[in-house]
Amino acid sequence: MLKNPRNDATLDISTKCTLKCSECARQHFETPSQIPGRNWTLEEFSKVISVYKKIDFNGQISDAVFNPHFIDMLKLCYKDGVEVEISNAASQRNMGWYERAFEANPNAIWIFGIDGLPDQSCIYRENQDGEHLFNVMLRAKELNISVKWQYIVFDYNRENIEVAKSIAKKYKIDIEFNYPTEARGGRVVDKKTKFVPKCLTGKRCTAVNATGHVLPCCWVDIPAINPKAELDDPLRLLFDNPTIFDDGVSVEQILQSDSYQQFMMNLINKKDVSWVCKKMCTSSLENPNRVKVNGTVSR
Ligand SMILES: C[S@@+](CC[C@H](N)C(=O)[O-])C[C@H]1O[C@@H](n2cnc3c(N)ncnc32)[C@H](O)[C@@H]1O
Ligand code: SF4
Ligand code: SF4
Repeated sequence: MLKNPRNDATLDISTKCTLKCSECARQHFETPSQIPGRNWTLEEFSKVISVYKKIDFNGQISDAVFNPHFIDMLKLCYKDGVEVEISNAASQRNMGWYERAFEANPNAIWIFGIDGLPDQSCIYRENQDGEHLFNVMLRAKELNISVKWQYIVFDYNRENIEVAKSIAKKYKIDIEFNYPTEARGGRVVDKKTKFVPKCLTGKRCTAVNATGHVLPCCWVDIPAINPKAELDDPLRLLFDNPTIFDDGVSVEQILQSDSYQQFMMNLINKKDVSWVCKKMCTSSLENPNRVKVNGTVSR
């Protein structure tokens, strides 16, 4: 029996986001109501954190701040000693709400997606008030909360990289520059062409999505991120499974189910492998999602 290879999981705890980033998977849906899934309850969340030591709220189709139980989830993680990282780009929560969130879990690490100088970030992050989010980041810093400024480099903000670095330095904030993936016009950094499943080498962590499915990584969440694409037989093994929303089913039971184990064995044996895995893990990029450059400013 395969053991869960990682102690951490990335979660999509809602289907809501107020931004309209042009490259977001949400753009595949005509209306938000078509996005599969719902807000997780606190009980469902408890099931997940009973298994994992580290949780990433890095929604592919949602921003975690919109789950109505989010602050209680943060509290629960703090109480249970579960490490937390939050990727937040939506700016529609007010300062008071953030202060309550910071108080709920002073150990959580917040990663703010501000792509460019605060007043230009809305060029990609449509509907974002980048200046408000930047002030939230400064307030967090004042309250000794760990923060990171994540800056995706696009043509419109490329010339501001040095200015952003100096702003980050001034406020003693870590900044990370990410380049868009190859599929989005990013650069190739590694010419490897061998199939190496990143979920087996520890480079991708378990994902639990907004429909409550437990998946070996978030890239295989095809119904949410690429709904017009084929859900082939290998992937069906994961989606025909019970979900964490099903009464009485634990994460462990899902991980140990015949179908989940069969999916993982297929990866090990390199047979009956989904097109998604072949595409994402026979990679010409070292890490197709995040390419760090030497722009990281450390305290
Ligand atoms: C699943 S995504 C989305 C997380 C979060 N909702 C957000 O928008 O940042 C996870 C990662 O992809 C990055 N990302 C989002 N849009 C991107 C783009 N167009 N190009 C490169 N990376 C992107 C995010 O910054 C984040 O690090
Ligand atoms: S902030 Fe994230 S979830 Fe929201 S629209 Fe942008 S990419 Fe999508
Ligand atoms: S795409 Fe497939 S092989 Fe690659 S990490 Fe995800 S589940 Fe594993």
